[in-house]
Amino acid sequence: MLVCHCHAVNDARIAQVLAAGADGVRGVVRATHAGTGCGSCLPVLRRVCAQAADERRRCELASPAAEDEQLAG
Ligand code: FES
Repeated sequence: MLVCHCHAVNDARIAQVLAAGADGVRGVVRATHAGTGCGSCLPVLRRVCAQAADERRRCELASPAAEDEQLAG
């Protein structure tokens, strides 16, 4: 799904940038320039970033190592 039309940034690119360690919306904007044109994509950009962060958290919790760490306290 194309998120930022001005800079041709899609949700897959945003997920890739976040997985590489970008710090939330600001990090995605810095890495891709999404949102720096007309700005109309910023609400969708924020939502896509929040969804990606939620998915990452769920994956971390689902991994056995993370689960073991949590159980061990
Ligand atoms: S659509 Fe993203 S800045 Fe214009």
